[in-house]
Amino acid sequence: MSQYIEVEQLGFRYQDGTEALVEVNLAIGDNEFIALIGQNGSGKTTLAKCLNGLLKPSSGRVLVDGLDSRSTSIVQMVKRVGYVFQNPDHQLFNGNCWDEIAYGPRNIQLPEPDVKERVAEAAGVVGLPERLFQEHPFFLSKGMRQRVAIAAILALRPKVIIVDEPTTGQDARQSIEIMDFLVELHEKHEHTVIIVTHDMDIVARHGTRRPWDFAARTLSGRFA
Ligand SMILES: Nc1ncnc2c1ncn2[C@@H]1O[C@H](COP(=O)(O)OP(=O)(O)OP(=O)(O)O)[C@@H](O)[C@H]1O
Ligand SMILES: [Mg+2]
Repeated sequence: MSQYIEVEQLGFRYQDGTEALVEVNLAIGDNEFIALIGQNGSGKTTLAKCLNGLLKPSSGRVLVDGLDSRSTSIVQMVKRVGYVFQNPDHQLFNGNCWDEIAYGPRNIQLPEPDVKERVAEAAGVVGLPERLFQEHPFFLSKGMRQRVAIAAILALRPKVIIVDEPTTGQDARQSIEIMDFLVELHEKHEHTVIIVTHDMDIVARHGTRRPWDFAARTLSGRFA
């Protein structure tokens, strides 16, 4: 049976010749909670960006919902797989939280009433209080900025959401809050959640596949 995401013999080479991914094979089904682990520079972020079409394969292929990322528009890809940047500050560029969350729905040219509905829904899911809607993301805590970044992705209602290093740079309490929130996204809102992380405690506590299964069954190439 085909899986929601299928990665076959994926290779990715940056313009300067860096081979970031070599023969990666991976399959992700509906409603999984997965941790993608690997050393610094092993290609986690590159892989995540290939999964939502921000980067196109140099070789092999990525199929999402049966669509080949190379021949599918970025709009069609981001509606299916959302990617929250490793550093939310690289993602947030609008003058206030509301516009930030509205950016994606506006970009796919939804009518304004639908945009409003999407923003309200996504802000509700991440627990962004209304009093912060007009606030500049810059003035929020890092934890709250991350929630805005996640809301901006959720507003496109992707089936899969990839969050790159969600707990890096957060203290222990914030890390627990973020992880609880991601678990809720998975359990209550039925998103497939993929976290990219170095934190093995998190992997042990939350992954739905054991890391060794993940390494043995789904990845080849430079991940191990
Ligand atoms: N824009 C780029 N141009 C050239 N090489 C790059 C670029 N971005 C990443 N790389 C290289 O590709 C390889 C994989 O990088 P990537 O950022 O995907 O790894 P990562 O596992 O996410 O690392 P980290 O744990 O530090 O976030 C590394 O060797 C990195 O230096
Ligand atoms: Mg990375």
